[in-house]
Amino acid sequence: EIMKEVSGLKVLEAGIEEKLGISKVVVVPGDSDQSPWVKKEMGRACVNTMRKRFHDENIIAVAGGTTISSVAEMMKPDTKNRELLFVPARGGLGEKVQNQANTICATMAEKAMGNYRLLHIPDSLSHESYQSMIEEPSIKEVIGLIKNSSMVIHGIGDAKTMAQRRKTAPENMQKIEQAHAVAEAFGYYFNEAGEVVHKVQTVGMQLADLEKIECVIAVAGGASKAKAIRAYLKKAPHTILITDEGAAKELIRE
Ligand code: BG6
Repeated sequence: EIMKEVSGLKVLEAGIEEKLGISKVVVVPGDSDQSPWVKKEMGRACVNTMRKRFHDENIIAVAGGTTISSVAEMMKPDTKNRELLFVPARGGLGEKVQNQANTICATMAEKAMGNYRLLHIPDSLSHESYQSMIEEPSIKEVIGLIKNSSMVIHGIGDAKTMAQRRKTAPENMQKIEQAHAVAEAFGYYFNEAGEVVHKVQTVGMQLADLEKIECVIAVAGGASKAKAIRAYLKKAPHTILITDEGAAKELIRE
């Protein structure tokens, strides 16, 4: 029975790799929309994928959200004692503290017995404060680490869900809706074609930086996120996707 299930998931993985044109997909059993523990299984799968790709020295940029929080929960010390430095991918995006990249980054580093650096930046900044903040030596240093990271771990969200969760200002809410945004990842909103339609202003990793990063892992599951996952991956083909059966079955359908 177990072997049958495993081979079924392998077929799903290969099918999605072909359909989305990405090179690596991992599918865990279940649907995280229905069963919260499935997020932990995605977390475990992500940790395994990370460990296979570590070098002797690593800078790992981590985004926020409940899924990446599960990755942190499942993190364990590296058996090979490699150097692991964790940084938040971007500054504040308006999330509750438990969903913030800073919080998750610190937890992940502690569980991995690695080191971490944090970004202390307010969620919304005027243009002037933003310009002077990024000149602060301590912030500049962390931004430098982020831009040089060897690995990025991020979630993908449904655009509307994320905009509401972050208490987005009405004018931006309207912009996001009018542009038919369906996906959101680290502060960027995307339409069905995978084009950016809105972005939250903050420091750290920018979308264009991703192309230069060797290993980019997106962790997102639940049938309700299939549309968002598909849209986001249209313009991010070198991403490794960790997902669940719930999202996978939707992704393979059309
Ligand atoms: C974060 C990303 O990692 O995960 C967000 O930065 C994304 O952009 C979010 O939308 C998804 O959150 P959750 O709680 O559904 O995992």
